[in-house]
Amino acid sequence: MKGHVLRLLQQANDYISGEAISQDLGVSRTAIWKVMQQLKEEGYQLESSPRKGYRLLSSPDRITPEEIRTQLKTSYLGHEIQYEEVLDSTNQRAKALAAKGAVEGTIVLAEQQERGKGRMGRQWESPKGTGIWLSAILRPLIPPTQVPLITLFAGLSVCKALEVVTGCTPSIKWPNDIILQGKKVCGILTEMNGEMERIHYVVVGIGVNVNTTEFIKELEDRATSLYLETGVLQVRKVLVAEILYFLEQYYESFKNPKKHQELLNEYKKYCITIGQDVKVMGLQETFFGRGIDLTAEGELLVRRETGIIETIRSGEVSIRGTKGYL
Ligand code: BTN
Repeated sequence: MKGHVLRLLQQANDYISGEAISQDLGVSRTAIWKVMQQLKEEGYQLESSPRKGYRLLSSPDRITPEEIRTQLKTSYLGHEIQYEEVLDSTNQRAKALAAKGAVEGTIVLAEQQERGKGRMGRQWESPKGTGIWLSAILRPLIPPTQVPLITLFAGLSVCKALEVVTGCTPSIKWPNDIILQGKKVCGILTEMNGEMERIHYVVVGIGVNVNTTEFIKELEDRATSLYLETGVLQVRKVLVAEILYFLEQYYESFKNPKKHQELLNEYKKYCITIGQDVKVMGLQETFFGRGIDLTAEGELLVRRETGIIETIRSGEVSIRGTKGYL
């Protein structure tokens, strides 16, 4: 009922009478009054006039389905939304939903994650209300070898969305750390379930530090937020909608293999790992070389100091000669 009332208030864009709302919903005026109190407690600013009814003045920075739907520009991505105030991890929830048959395009959003997952078994700090903790369920008809490309395009989508909404100029540290001023502002964790020949589902988990004002000591030199870089508090629902828009666009292009090279070329414009001296920390060894290009499947080609060219599928690749995180 709360979502329905909110929608009516948002659509009215002016006063709407308590009578009109109660008739639309088929409930009493007292029930409507209670919903209005709940909305105020959640941070919605409402004006009420005995003669004219209720008017929505402003909405809090929340990423509830009701708020996200006011911004969505997609055909299917984000049309199904699972939202929770607190989750252990949106990726965990998305995988559970996908295993139960959730439709492609379903997304999971939380205001806070208690056990946010990062790449390589790391934790992802996900404090309440300051970031975007989002997972999207995709069901592409592809072999597992193509999944890394989806991860790259997810990174590209976030870059485009950040540019459009905040005017900043992000770059990508291969495979998909999004960087602003040498620090990480967004990380992406892609998980999949499938067989050798075909996958059942992919969960793309995107974590963006949006309005974070300070980080824990261990992250101070490595992490940043959009607020810290732009000096402007961002409206998270606008960013979520823009990320979903670009993600859907790139995902649709990705379904056509003929478009892969074009997408990779676009990705390379943002990727700072190519053309740099790098340190590769793989599972077996650590070595130095130079990032030279990407393969058609999105792997990084690194020329060792010995001249041999290695294909890097996973692992940590840092850029040499830079201080701190990169
Ligand atoms: C990284 O280590 O760079 C990847 C971080 C990914 C974090 C996001 S937040 C939303 C989603 N849910 C998770 O538990 N992790 C991802």
